[in-house]
Amino acid sequence: MRILLTGGAGYIGSHTLLQLLQQQHELCVIDNFSNAAPEALSRVARLSNRHFEHHDATILDSGRLDEIFDSFQPEAVIHFAGLKAVGESDLKPLSYYEENVFGTIQLLKAMDRAKCRRIVFSSSATVYGTPHYLPYNEAHPLAPINPYGRTKYFIEEILKDWAKTDAEKAVMLLRYFNPVGAHPSGAIGEDPMGVPNNLMPFIAQVAIGRRPVLNVFGNDYDTPDGTGVRDYIHVDDLARGHAAALDYITHHTGVEAVNLGAGKGVSVLEMVKAFEQASGVSIPLHFAPRRPGDLPQFWADATKAKTLFNWEVEKSLVEMCADVWRWQSQNPHGYGDET
Ligand code: UFG
Repeated sequence: MRILLTGGAGYIGSHTLLQLLQQQHELCVIDNFSNAAPEALSRVARLSNRHFEHHDATILDSGRLDEIFDSFQPEAVIHFAGLKAVGESDLKPLSYYEENVFGTIQLLKAMDRAKCRRIVFSSSATVYGTPHYLPYNEAHPLAPINPYGRTKYFIEEILKDWAKTDAEKAVMLLRYFNPVGAHPSGAIGEDPMGVPNNLMPFIAQVAIGRRPVLNVFGNDYDTPDGTGVRDYIHVDDLARGHAAALDYITHHTGVEAVNLGAGKGVSVLEMVKAFEQASGVSIPLHFAPRRPGDLPQFWADATKAKTLFNWEVEKSLVEMCADVWRWQSQNPHGYGDET
């Protein structure tokens, strides 16, 4: 298939790009590199030994989108591009609505003009909000609790309406849980700009000596060890999930929302222990107050992905940690090392 990836140089985008190249699809990447490095694309090209088209462009630029759609003629789009920092979204909500929601509208208009009717969208478990029950299944009410989460929710609703305009349209809303890990080669991985917001890259930067100590945000939650519990999923499992979802929407029309998670909860302290085991490095901890806006715990009911397109996670917590450590130790400063 001819597949266009928006945000294809980012963390999840680059791993999915590699997966799809290995499956012999034709790929085209659009990325504005606001939170990604061109070096990621060079490394994917080297790992896959395949050529693919890429453009330094924003999805807000409808003229550029038309040019790219006209020349590449994609049969499907996987839409990763977007801003993704929860805390920043409280401070700059309009930037989030503009990039994420308006950007998606521009993309869908370009798809309509090019008669491209299939899209896989990077949504998030954050659309569920405070749990009414756990694990979250796809029927759980949607009530996101921050602007970032609301952009994902609004985009899902827009995509549902968009799908109704043509019986041949096919939309897959993939609700990711907590992606971690890196490609086992150590050549591509997560390279956050500035201080990492997320647990795993923070642990990795402590392990490599870039940060002195891990702040554990809260140890008084009503969870088995008092720390926050999440459903961590290896980014390569997530990438395979996109390939499976894409295959599904080539054979089915309409809209589906599907959780991509491991289906089990892991605490902050369990994650630190697994990382120490995988890396042989000990991680100094400091117990800090709860981070505002954090939920105590959540994890996925991942059975729908298995039923619909026969996907489930394959990689363990120790593999996630070992792969992050390989990436971080081979690239102490991320993609910055080779520039
Ligand atoms: N945590 C720490 N110290 C840190 C960073 C995180 O203790 O330095 C804790 C958090 O308090 C939480 C857990 O580690 O208990 C996981 O936090 P992350 O920031 O890694 O992940 P979140 O679950 O907060 O957020 C992630 C994504 C969001 C997404 C959300 C739900 O970053 O984009 O999952 O899918 F919306």
